[in-house]
This record gives sequence, structure tokens and C-alpha cells, in this order.
Amino acid sequence: MGMTRRTMLGLAISGFVAKASIRHPNNQSNNQQISSLGSEFGPKVISTWPFGIDANANAMDVLSKGGSSLDAVEHGVRITEADPTVTSVGYNGSLDRDGHLTLDACIMDHRGMCGSVACLEHIKHPISVARAIMEKTPHVMLVGQGALEFAVSQGFTKENIVTEDAIRRWEEWKQSNAIPPPTPENHDTIGLLAMDSNGNISGACTTSGLSYKLPGRVGDSPLIGPGLYVDNEVGAATATGVGEAIIRVVGSFLIVELMRSGMEPEMACKEAVKRIVKKHPEQHASLQVGFIALRKDGKTGAYGMRKGEFSYSLTDGANPKGKVITAPSWLD
Ligand code: GLY
Repeated sequence: MGMTRRTMLGLAISGFVAKASIRHPNNQSNNQQISSLGSEFGPKVISTWPFGIDANANAMDVLSKGGSSLDAVEHGVRITEADPTVTSVGYNGSLDRDGHLTLDACIMDHRGMCGSVACLEHIKHPISVARAIMEKTPHVMLVGQGALEFAVSQGFTKENIVTEDAIRRWEEWKQSNAIPPPTPENHDTIGLLAMDSNGNISGACTTSGLSYKLPGRVGDSPLIGPGLYVDNEVGAATATGVGEAIIRVVGSFLIVELMRSGMEPEMACKEAVKRIVKKHPEQHASLQVGFIALRKDGKTGAYGMRKGEFSYSLTDGANPKGKVITAPSWLD
């Protein structure tokens, strides 16, 4: 009889369990041992970009009080959504071509439940709307006006989150009307993954999307699969960068599946970048993308496209204040 993926996963995980059981010589079942890995290695938070360090600190605060990874990822990225110095996420985010601020976000928990919102206007914390969709509706994704009406019905405040600064940047851009350069600040989504003290993993991803995008354009960040994926038996991944390229390879899901088949987190992120290169042989040098991954045993990895541009933030027992790490890149 052939080996099912789940059996293979069990075997792959048993490698991790074997290590854990050296330190836990008891009679726990495999599942108990797997779930003990989180406490074995301690809570951990990884997020895209140096600005993730503040989000990580907030997420770790939740985890260190015994909170769930779901609460941690939501509370983590809310910091970035409210931070006016991050001009590609939430409040003071970049506008679309017509001067509207439309936000995309998604969240996924250790049970595989997920919620998502796209093209949401006038709400400061799209990640919390995504969580409300997950928890209070039978749906996964709401967009545009429907998403706004749902948010207001749930008590979210409809407010002006377009700043004078965002309007000034947009007006400057209108002088040239050019396609934004492939610099990180035009796509620098926050994706954040957390493991709690029970070893459960969740993820969140939130952005204002590509600067000066066509109205209605949706990138990878609210899409479960490309922008974020969590499988609590294996690990999780999330993405930043040019959403169209990430969607074409279903980047985050691909990375989790590669880890399932035994690939190391960094190698799995590299393979996702490699597939983008293969699909865009002429243009890949202008497609900045970055992936981060967190495996069930606590091991992390990352990979970017453009030389030295992609860095990420890691906060855990060994780095309680958080550490910014430059990811290896394809064009190194
Ligand atoms: N990764 C963000 C976007 O392309 O919208």
C-alpha cells in the first residue's frame, strides 16, 4: 500500500519528535510530544522587515502571558497598522491611483481557520476585521463595501485613515504617473508568524498593497495560500513583495508543502523564489519578493529576491529584544 502524505508527514515530524523525546523521556503519545515542541523551544515570533520588531514585541508580550498565537499575531500586526511611519500598511498607507486607501489583510490559526479582507477602506485595523470574518461568519473573505458594512456592523469605527502625508506622496507621484520602482517601501507588507507555549502556530498579514495600484487591485496579502499559510502539523509561511509574482506560485502554501516533504525552512523559501525566477526569466530582477517560514520544531528561515534588500525580525528566548536579520537572496 502506498504511503499517504499524512503518513510521510508523521515520519517527518517523528524526526523532530525524536529530538524532543531525548529531553522528554516519558510516555507521551506522538501528538503530545509534537505539541510539547512549542514549550520545548519557547514562544517565537518572526515577521517581515525591520519594522516587524515592534510588532514582534507586542506579539511576544501576549505569548509571554500565556496568550494564544492567534491573539499574538493579531495584536502584533495592529502595532504596524497604526504606525504612521510604516507607509505601506494601515494608517498613512499608500493610496491607489485615484487617491483611495484600500487595505488588504488575512489571518489564519492553528486549526486551519482563516479570515480575510480586501479593498477595505476607512478602517484602521483590517486584521481585526479579518479575524471577525473568521470567527463570526461562515465565510473566509469579504471585499470592498461589503467588508466595510460588515466591519461597521461589528462595531469597528469608520474613520479617516488617509493622512496629509499620504496625499502629499500621492500628489508627488501623480507628477510622474510612473509605475512605482521595485523598492521595498512600495510593497513592504507585514507578515507575522507566531508559535505559542502550546506549540500552536498562527499567522497574520496586512498591507495597503502596491503603491498607486489600479483601483480594485488585490495583491497576495489577503489571499490564504499566496500571502499566508499555516498548517499546525508542519509550520507556516508568509510573504512580502510584488503580490502578482507571489500569487503566480502560491508562495506561502508552496513553502509549507515543501517543509512538509522535509525541506528546511530557508531552502523552502528559496525554492519559492526560484519558481518566481523561472516564471519571470526576463523581469525577476525587478520583482522584489521576500518569504519567511516557521517550522513546527521552531526552526525559521527566509529568502528574498534582490540583493541585500529583504530583512526580517526574529524574537524568541535567544533574542528577547528581537533581532533584525538580512535574508539571503537570489541575486546575491
Ligand atoms: N505584497 C503586497 C502586495 O503586493 O500587495
